[in-house]
Amino acid sequence: MNQVRRLLPDFGTTSSPTSVERLKERGFAEALRKVFAMSGEDIISQITESGIKGRGGAAFPTGLKWSSVYKAPGETKYVVMNADESELGTFKDRVLLEEDPLGALVGVLIAAHAVGAKKAFCYIRGEYRDVENRMAEALDTLRSQGWVGPDRVDVQIRRGAGAYIAGEETALFNSIEGKRPEPRVKPPFPTIKGLWASPTLIQNVETLANVAVLFAHDTEWFKQYGTKETIGTKLVAISGHVKQPGVYEVPFGMSLTDILNAPDLGGGIAGSGRLGAMLLGGAAGTFLTPEEIAKSSLDYASLGAVGANIGSGAVMVFDDTVDLVGVTTRLARFFAEESCGQCVPCRVGTQRVVELIENDGIQSRPQDLRELGLAMRDASICGLGQTAPLALLSLLDRPELRQHA
Ligand SMILES: Cc1cc2nc3c(=O)[nH]c(=O)nc-3n(C[C@H](O)[C@H](O)[C@H](O)COP(=O)(O)O)c2cc1C
Ligand code: SF4
Repeated sequence: MNQVRRLLPDFGTTSSPTSVERLKERGFAEALRKVFAMSGEDIISQITESGIKGRGGAAFPTGLKWSSVYKAPGETKYVVMNADESELGTFKDRVLLEEDPLGALVGVLIAAHAVGAKKAFCYIRGEYRDVENRMAEALDTLRSQGWVGPDRVDVQIRRGAGAYIAGEETALFNSIEGKRPEPRVKPPFPTIKGLWASPTLIQNVETLANVAVLFAHDTEWFKQYGTKETIGTKLVAISGHVKQPGVYEVPFGMSLTDILNAPDLGGGIAGSGRLGAMLLGGAAGTFLTPEEIAKSSLDYASLGAVGANIGSGAVMVFDDTVDLVGVTTRLARFFAEESCGQCVPCRVGTQRVVELIENDGIQSRPQDLRELGLAMRDASICGLGQTAPLALLSLLDRPELRQHA
């Protein structure tokens, strides 16, 4: 068995995902009792000790973020769960919230207690109506047990604005405040000045689920999986040319080859049966060659050595017949469509990339594309423009992947 079930409930769990029974069965009721008797400092030092890093893409150390919100001056503080999940190839938060909505919500409550927030928001992708309904039921359960409410933590659900950019943390705050989801210039960072200009802790769904299972057990238990540097488990969303696409929980440190081929994971390469490439980390990710895949494992250091990162955990697999230039062209159109248009390097850059690829092809003007990509990466206001050229740049760096163009 290569899969792990921690964030996702055990196979064979029969209790309703939103029930009081589930809350007890997963150890979350006990975790809440324990945590609400602890001080913010003690909770945060346990988070820091666990080594949890953000699972939304940037892998920022969670303890450091909590500590910054905790220390930030201000009467009113907020916690936000980011469930906007609109990155291409990423669908792990949907599965997590469908299978175990209480976990991430318990993470929200623990976070709010730790940093001193009385109000929290769950920002859920607009198309995820089933998730929204399930989250509302789970909130009712927590309310019935006295964990959610004006005296404790008031938790509200917000429906996403239907744009990829709304998942960027400061654009998300604007969306909650009823404004256009356009990113703000940072600094100031959200930990100091976030929602309604107050200190705000924003975390990905999977990060919060990690917090819940950590406190349902302990740090030693939490560290049983992973590597020294990259601790715990990771949800991966595998799509494309594998026999068993889907969302799987795996220990950090597992080889990419096992993720693709293990009988209870990807199950082997579909299509031609021959691996052509992998796009790791979603639309803003990195193309890897079969040789790079063969020597890499799912941890920050190993992937960093081949110029990649885990991102949100999207693993897109291509057999050796796929035209990766065509794939990159579609990714470029996605970014041009999703750019909010606020800053020039991204607004003009994403359009120019599409024009250059469509009119001249990737092969004919690689140097122009590279310079454009680097300007976007270095000069855009937010992560969308900064990461939009990454897949393209990775393809330019790997001529062997362009042979089907
Ligand atoms: C264009 C764009 C879209 C994003 N979408 C999401 C998203 O859907 N979910 C998410 O958790 N983070 C998303 N992020 C990252 C968030 O800005 C933020 O870093 C994250 O929610 C922090 O949580 P973490 O520390 O738990 O990873 C996005 C970033 C960018 C630039
Ligand atoms: S980088 Fe793109 S998405 Fe981000 S603020 Fe600038 S124009 Fe908008």
